[in-house]
Amino acid sequence: MRIAFIGDVVGKPGRMMLQKYLPLLREEHAIDFVIANYENASHGFGLTEKNCLELLECGVDMMTGGNHSFDKKEVLTLFDKYPLIRPANYPKSTPGTGVYEVEVNGVQLAVVNILGHYTMPMVDNPFTVADDIVESLVQKNIKHIVIDMHAEATSEKQALLHILGDKVSAIVGTHTHVSTDDLQIVKGCCYITDLGLTGCRDGVIGMDPASPIKRFMTGIGSHFDVPDHCKSISHILLVDLDKEGKSLEAKKLKIYDDGSIVVTHAKKEID
Ligand SMILES: [Fe+2]
Repeated sequence: MRIAFIGDVVGKPGRMMLQKYLPLLREEHAIDFVIANYENASHGFGLTEKNCLELLECGVDMMTGGNHSFDKKEVLTLFDKYPLIRPANYPKSTPGTGVYEVEVNGVQLAVVNILGHYTMPMVDNPFTVADDIVESLVQKNIKHIVIDMHAEATSEKQALLHILGDKVSAIVGTHTHVSTDDLQIVKGCCYITDLGLTGCRDGVIGMDPASPIKRFMTGIGSHFDVPDHCKSISHILLVDLDKEGKSLEAKKLKIYDDGSIVVTHAKKEID
């Protein structure tokens, strides 16, 4: 099974990159299932129904969220209609669910969304919730498990690899929007601390730099904005899983707006 994972899709520039390149990539790389993070897809904050449909129509199969999942209130009406999840460690009374199960080519795949702790909203313990969910999936004999670990702290993401790496297929870090250079396969688990955004590459975490610069230079915050025009990039992770759900090989494609691609490779670790 070959899955693709797309990190934080930030605003219109991010959506346009996927509209332009994802249909071609799906065909060229024979991708079986595409996961993308939606939490910044609508002008940097949350997800509207219109943008949800755009992403599904260009080849995304399901979407994960994060601390901005609920920024657009209409998302509350979308969980029952579309393949969307929000972090599983939000309290039980929060709308939506944090685990998505689907059959892909006759194999059960589960996608789990977890929100980190540092600088994040008050949610349940990310590590114990993730551990409990994975245990329940393993009990159901589901071996193909992908976790979107949406967190600020690199330490929390690396710790999750140590806690669950031998039980899941992939742990993909999202949220910081800046791609890290540590793609690896450990004990059959594909891991990267942060996959990086799909959106503007010449701003500040995909946003117009004016507002963050003002905030940092004066201490006065203002609304972050996604520029209409910018230099764009898309980070897309391709992972090949065997019958037991173990990662065999992974590639991170860094796709620039002119179509050029830089590939980072990870193979099964050598003992
Ligand atoms: Fe986030």
